[in-house]
Amino acid sequence: MRMVEKHKKASMKELVQWLLTTSMLLSASASRMCSNNTGTSCEKSDDVLLVEVDGSAILATTDEAFICATLDWWPPDKCDYGSCAWGQVSLLNLDLSNPLLEKSLKALYPFRIRLGGTLQDHIVYDVGLNPTQSCLPIVKDEAYMFGFREGCLSMGRWIALNTLFAKTGTLVAFGLNALFRRPKIGDVWGPWDSSNARDFIEFTINQGIQVEAWELGNELTAYGVGTTISPEQYAQDVKELRLIIDSLYEGFPRRPLLVAPDGFFNPQWFTVFLNDSGPGIVDVVTRHIYNLGPGVSTDLVDKILNTSYLDNELGHFRAVREILQTTAPWASSWVGEAGGAYNSGHHLVTDAFVFSFWYLDQLGMAASFDNKAYCRQSLIGGNYGLLNTTTFQPNPDMYSALLWKRLMGSRVLATAIDGYPQMRTYTHCQQGTTTGGLTLLLMNLSNSTVNVAVNLLSHPKAETMSHGVKKSKYQLIPKKSKVLKPPTTRSEYHLSAPYLHSQTVMLNGSPLELTQSGDYPSLDPITKENTSPHYKQVCRFSLRILRTVSPLTLRCTTMDYPCDQAEFLEFGRTFS
Ligand SMILES: *[C@@H]1O[C@H](CO)[C@@H](O)[C@H](O)[C@H]1NC(C)=O
Ligand SMILES: *[C@@H]1O[C@H](CO)[C@@H](O)[C@H](O)[C@H]1NC(C)=O
Ligand SMILES: *[C@@H]1O[C@H](CO)[C@@H](O)[C@H](O)[C@H]1NC(C)=O
Ligand SMILES: *[C@@H]1O[C@H](CO)[C@@H](O)[C@H](O)[C@H]1NC(C)=O
Ligand SMILES: *[C@@H]1O[C@H](CO)[C@@H](O)[C@H](O)[C@H]1NC(C)=O
Ligand SMILES: *[C@@H]1O[C@H](CO)[C@@H](O)[C@H](O)[C@H]1NC(C)=O
Repeated sequence: MRMVEKHKKASMKELVQWLLTTSMLLSASASRMCSNNTGTSCEKSDDVLLVEVDGSAILATTDEAFICATLDWWPPDKCDYGSCAWGQVSLLNLDLSNPLLEKSLKALYPFRIRLGGTLQDHIVYDVGLNPTQSCLPIVKDEAYMFGFREGCLSMGRWIALNTLFAKTGTLVAFGLNALFRRPKIGDVWGPWDSSNARDFIEFTINQGIQVEAWELGNELTAYGVGTTISPEQYAQDVKELRLIIDSLYEGFPRRPLLVAPDGFFNPQWFTVFLNDSGPGIVDVVTRHIYNLGPGVSTDLVDKILNTSYLDNELGHFRAVREILQTTAPWASSWVGEAGGAYNSGHHLVTDAFVFSFWYLDQLGMAASFDNKAYCRQSLIGGNYGLLNTTTFQPNPDMYSALLWKRLMGSRVLATAIDGYPQMRTYTHCQQGTTTGGLTLLLMNLSNSTVNVAVNLLSHPKAETMSHGVKKSKYQLIPKKSKVLKPPTTRSEYHLSAPYLHSQTVMLNGSPLELTQSGDYPSLDPITKENTSPHYKQVCRFSLRILRTVSPLTLRCTTMDYPCDQAEFLEFGRTFS
């Protein structure tokens, strides 16, 4: 089902003029959006929700490659609660020639892959080692720290992985072996032996392999899985990695990012670690999120659909941002690994439609707290893969990721829905357009049908105007045009499923599936006229959210402000 309709676009000048008038009207109506004393009819009734978007400032920005996912080391005999969900998708045995893998990576472009996980800290790189030592696989052995004996990454495999990543334009973040030959005295870990990592990085450079980021360690912070390294020692270890990167990449126009600590958040640990490592050592601070509990839990869906439960993570996002601002202003943050439910997720939950409520909400939250990337555990593997472990077919969240990267641009605007927490919403400047526009993500966690209207707030700018400040941006706009043309159309992308545990997701009512040749479908919107008599001010429409399970993105195609006003796009980082 597709409605092909020509987008009627008013000229840029008219739109800006229209919005200018809008902001003046808003200024007159103080903070109550639905006051009718502005001359616009804007009733607020119980079944209409007003979404308010603060268009006066960019709240946060993400990398262009915000969407990120992981590949892990887990071998086929990694099992949790009696089920073995990893199959043949370890970094060591994943079928790199599967055409669906390549197509998926290309579809996700611009995309970042994080290579790591629990076993990374004991992996040995087969370069510069004792020549008589052979490159051994990972072997299950309960006597070892994580239940497996250390394995080895052959350089042939490393080259093969990177051949695929280079071909698909995938950015690579590689997690180094932070426990390699690390001495332990009593309970206390000594310094990292960086020799194997150094040789590995050198090999990588000599092969011309581009790595975007070198990460150190996996979940070794306070609340570490299996073990913990003190923040003071960890700070010394990342300084060592900094020296290695700086010396080996000397003279390169682009130096890879140093990313750490890739562990669970603990304010004290993170603060000491960043303070001790000091300015310019860590480029990106990463943390992991498994906020739903173990995969075996039976209340995962209740948590995913519980808005106050989802909000519990806000505190961590806020705390990380504060620590960066106060202790490490030179660093940015990523969510380094997030699978929701630990120990491999839960079949028919974390690989089903319902999980998009968690995933899209997490993406929205992470972006609004200025995280530059969000690495989903996993691209493939466990029960939380974007792709099915055996068939490589996309799970519902793969389509959510694709829609996100296609629609949600890198600039984030503050959004709120007053008094209706079950409707969760995020707003970004549109992706991939130079003419401005907004994309809203709306998620209904409630059991009720609601109407939604969208309003754009521009108070700070409007106040500037009313105080007669001549240097306001508005002064640059020619006042000639008096024709106020509201946006005439919008595009809607409704995601739904017949039931929450469905592994098929529908876009605007049609199931999403690969074409017969294994290509991704085109993900077309439906185009709607903005004909609502109410809410004339902005993005003039009223949208009926049906009583269906329905995360939804839509774009208001002709909103030209404020997203034109600044360029904050960032793609990787350039170093001098
Ligand atoms: C404005 O709002 C008041 C109270 O909310 C209402 O009584 C009145 O009819 C409204 N006027 C218009 C023109 O809609
Ligand atoms: C931060 O580091 C400085 C110098 O390295 C040290 O004097 C100070 O006590 C540290 N502060 C915290 C909160 O760890
Ligand atoms: C929703 O989550 C909150 C916060 O974790 C919890 O207190 C509350 O009991 C949950 N509600 C339901 C219905 O489970
Ligand atoms: C992967 O796909 C196959 C075939 O459709 C299905 O039987 C299996 O349950 C799927 N596996 C997972 C973990 O979803
Ligand atoms: C929504 O409906 C389902 C099924 O009818 C019910 O189990 C659930 O409690 C309802 N949730 C709310 C928040 O009313
Ligand atoms: C969205 O609304 C409908 C209304 O009943 C409901 O069936 C659906 O479950 C809601 N979404 C969620 C996640 O509860």
